[in-house]
Amino acid sequence: MLFSLTVLPGDGIGPEVTEQAVLVLRAVADRFGHQLQLQPKLIGGAALKAANDPLPPDTVQACLDSSAVLLGAVGSPEFDKNPGHLRPEAGLLRIRRELGAYANLRPAVFFPALEDSSPLRAEIVRGTDIMIVRELLGGAYFGQPRSIEGKPGARVAVNTMRYAEHEVERIARVAFDLAMKRKKKVLSVDKANVLECSRLWRDVVTRIGKDYPEVKLGHQYVDSAAMLLVQRPTDFDVVLTENMFGDILSDQAGGVVGSLGLLASASIGGKVGLYEPVHGSAPDIAGKGIANPLGAILSAAMLLRHSLHLEREAACIEQAVATVLSQGARTADLAGKTHPSISTADMGSRVVMLVKEVK
Ligand code: IPM
Ligand code: MG
Repeated sequence: MLFSLTVLPGDGIGPEVTEQAVLVLRAVADRFGHQLQLQPKLIGGAALKAANDPLPPDTVQACLDSSAVLLGAVGSPEFDKNPGHLRPEAGLLRIRRELGAYANLRPAVFFPALEDSSPLRAEIVRGTDIMIVRELLGGAYFGQPRSIEGKPGARVAVNTMRYAEHEVERIARVAFDLAMKRKKKVLSVDKANVLECSRLWRDVVTRIGKDYPEVKLGHQYVDSAAMLLVQRPTDFDVVLTENMFGDILSDQAGGVVGSLGLLASASIGGKVGLYEPVHGSAPDIAGKGIANPLGAILSAAMLLRHSLHLEREAACIEQAVATVLSQGARTADLAGKTHPSISTADMGSRVVMLVKEVK
């Protein structure tokens, strides 16, 4: 089969990790007899530099015309003083919206080989397999009005957290559908003791839950969910939550399983799926060749699964990643005191080699 993908390397470590993910995708395509057409485009700081726009129109068009989009990371401190719409992050938020990608799936799976990498004791983290379902197009990220106004010293800033019932409903269905294929548990995370948005959220999620009688639905305030996530990570199956809580809890889940560098994500629900590692652009280590490419590589696996419906190919990548880790391959973020660390490119090549060997 022939697939056309748009590749958005972006900023910081984005290009380095995306390069490895693309090599893995090419190896999988070769191995299983698919043809890949890859079109690189600009986003974020890279696009601001070239076109003074964090999401140029031709990037949007290319994404809309492709089977799926693979993204690295956006964000760069050199634009910290820019107004909101001229920050790299604005490009990411806009592409999510342009693609209609309201459902952000962020799996946090503990690899048995990484017992030394997690800050938690092995007996606590062993068996962790969480699917965070983060609403991606609502809440404070997109709510209007938003502003900073007034004179220095007396400024006032406003953001608006906003949810409509249909937005909660559609993301809830994604979470329940996923739970049906997993351990049939959904934990809906909110702050219903304080926020109206959360009270509506809880109401709608409870109603949708009635359509899924086999799924055990629980509700937890976000503060207490954050604590439970480090105390008993294995209790979690599907976590359903709004945009900002999902942003925060997914980084925390990365810490729990050993490194944020491992986490992949799929942003789906719209016309075209967008796949990106959960980690950011990490400008402090960019260009050093030490970033962990596994989050990007596992995002490529999610792309194969969710947009191209190539389950065998996706599983092949995931198996290869588990194997390289069990063989002791560690980038700096995972190495700790017990292992030597290898480069971004070495980690990528090891995955490529294994993918090629799969029967
Ligand atoms: C993420 C990131 C983004 C977000 C930033 C870069 C806008 O932190 O994907 O988790 O907050 O959604
Ligand atoms: Mg984040």
